[in-house]
Amino acid sequence: MKALVLAGGSGTRLRPFSHSLPKQLIPVANRAVLSYVLGNVHAAGVTDVGIIVSNGAEAIRQALGDGADHGLRLTYLTQPQPLGLAHAVRVARPFLGVDDFVVYLGDNMLADGIAETVARFRRDRPAAHLVVQKVADPRAFGVVELDAQARVRRLVEKPPEPRSDLALVGVYVFTAALHAAVDAITPSARGELELTDAVQWLVDRGADVRADEYAGFWKDVGTVADVLECNRYVLGGQRGRIDGRVDTHSTIGPGVVVETGARVVRSRIQGPAIVGAGALVEDSLLGPHTAVGAGCRVQGSEVADSVLLDGASVTAVLRLAGSILGRGAVVTGGGSAGHRLVLGDHGAVTLDP
Ligand code: DAU
Repeated sequence: MKALVLAGGSGTRLRPFSHSLPKQLIPVANRAVLSYVLGNVHAAGVTDVGIIVSNGAEAIRQALGDGADHGLRLTYLTQPQPLGLAHAVRVARPFLGVDDFVVYLGDNMLADGIAETVARFRRDRPAAHLVVQKVADPRAFGVVELDAQARVRRLVEKPPEPRSDLALVGVYVFTAALHAAVDAITPSARGELELTDAVQWLVDRGADVRADEYAGFWKDVGTVADVLECNRYVLGGQRGRIDGRVDTHSTIGPGVVVETGARVVRSRIQGPAIVGAGALVEDSLLGPHTAVGAGCRVQGSEVADSVLLDGASVTAVLRLAGSILGRGAVVTGGGSAGHRLVLGDHGAVTLDP
């Protein structure tokens, strides 16, 4: 069995971060979303992995290399334009050959892994095995209708009036039967070759298409709010560990990780939180639910429920919450002549009066 991880696309909803960083590399608890994806693929017993890349190819290559860090063999496959998930499968056809394969959308966080899903497919080996989860508003997802035996009857991509509350999770397992479907379909109204249409094509021809409800934590990391929610969840499950230096004037709560080379000086850290390698937290109150990236500086400030990408700094800020700071971003407080902002394209700031 092989895996195909989809890390192309444009990520417009995660601007401004996706201007300079593919959305699949946004960190959750100081680890790129794609790293969780690859970890889950490996834990499911699949090691031969193709990864679809487009604009962000170079950054993804730099982050993942040949896959050896994750115990995988990675093959990079270039999709010149984001013409749809089924188009990505077409691009990957020479890599996939006649093997069974997992398709895993590179912006999907499944914090509890996919091993059970892959095991179920291996046991029953239907033409397609889908994963679904009930959501309050399914209109932003593929929506699935099942019969009483959990066989898939109908799939519709982002319907304005959903006929079920089962959203399609971004993990699918297929036999090579999918390739004929991918060849047969035509672009949707939004101009993409939809994987949902390819699976519907299989259903219409009587193929065995099944779905399991995912009981674990799942989030499609599409917006800033999604990143913060994933960060809260993953940090919430971590065990505390102090590898860096904490001075005697600081207090560290449970569930706090202080990475190697990080320094905590005269500060209080409320768990769960993580302070990345080489970061400095000084005269500050940090957490809960805060991830401070490598090389960041937080000085004389209070930061909660936030994600700071590598090299960001926060100085003399009364309180920062629900925030994401990009790499090397600088936030300074304490001025008396009003707010001074230098914001990148599509940045967003909320100021208190
Ligand atoms: O997250 C689950 C949802 O993912 C499903 O419920 C939908 O049925 C499915 O179509 C998909 O919808 P999204 O609109 O969220 O897909 P998105 O465009 O965000 O792409 C998902 C991943 O695939 C993302 O990592 C980018 C990558 N991608 C996307 C396209 C369109 C590619 O690599 N190539 C592409 O052409």
